[in-house]
Amino acid sequence: MPHVETSFTISREGLDLSKQLLMDQQFGGSWTDQKMRIVVDYARAYLTIMATLPWVKTIYFDGFAGSGVIKGEDGEAVKKGTALQILEITSPKPFDLYYFVELNEAHKCTLENQIKENHPGRKAYVIKDDCNNKLKALADYLTKNRTYRALSFIDPYGMDVKWSSIEALKGLGVDLWILVPTGVGANRLLKVDGNISDGWYKALETCLGLNRAEIDKRFYRRTTTHTLFGAETTVTKEKETVQKLGDLYAERLGEVFKYVSEPFLLKNSMNSIMYHFMMATNNAAGVKIANDVIKPKYEA
Ligand SMILES: C[S@@+](CC[C@H](N)C(=O)[O-])C[C@H]1O[C@@H](n2cnc3c(N)ncnc32)[C@H](O)[C@@H]1O
Repeated sequence: MPHVETSFTISREGLDLSKQLLMDQQFGGSWTDQKMRIVVDYARAYLTIMATLPWVKTIYFDGFAGSGVIKGEDGEAVKKGTALQILEITSPKPFDLYYFVELNEAHKCTLENQIKENHPGRKAYVIKDDCNNKLKALADYLTKNRTYRALSFIDPYGMDVKWSSIEALKGLGVDLWILVPTGVGANRLLKVDGNISDGWYKALETCLGLNRAEIDKRFYRRTTTHTLFGAETTVTKEKETVQKLGDLYAERLGEVFKYVSEPFLLKNSMNSIMYHFMMATNNAAGVKIANDVIKPKYEA
């Protein structure tokens, strides 16, 4: 995988505005803890199963790796990020290979240094790139190296993940934990009056893998009434669209993977859903474990 490059580039049109809306996320807050606990607990169970299959080589693929440290409001490191917590797992065995993707140069360097200092013996790559490029590279790698299995953690702030990148994983040995920005991302682009700009439609299409007409059909009702002055069309946004976006994403994942877990809901202080966090796999045992690790004991 480190040798596999793609020429793929991302159009960011339409994504930047939604991203701005997302930057109020409490990065060091309980969401982070909940996600980390789920992924780390899942990784332990995953490695326990893999330890019984000595011919299988394991990859931990982290598409939005961060710096490895989580900082408090004063900018000081307060706890280890998911990447470092995953690297700390040694029992029953560590992963054979770690692949961390991080777009931000400073985060990438910090993580690299942390790994050099604390886990010098590990086969770990930290790559500065867009996660979408490397998801495709991961798919290529797994296609060519059939003894490898990957546990993948995809943890974006916003609508950075292209549906085509997820689709590339079809039929491969990947267990994919993905944070889906339903409330903070997609739902904010689905404007109440249905008057969505081309850029926002493009962002929705790219993220959901649906075209404009399919998106409209899912999330809007159009009613035409005939008045004295001709036909008038009223556009009404469906109710509970955040939940429907979560259902839709799970349905889409179900077209790529055999099994999709229940969603773990990340909510804000107003009890509104911000993200759906879910796991997709081709492995029946995997989805059972995923559903166990997201049980209410993990909720704040
Ligand atoms: C939510 S943080 C990751 C936290 C990390 N997963 C953890 O649990 O410790 C998201 C990270 O993704 C990086 N990032 C943003 N867009 C990216 C992209 N398109 N590809 C890869 N990394 C990206 C950001 O610089 C940031 O460090």
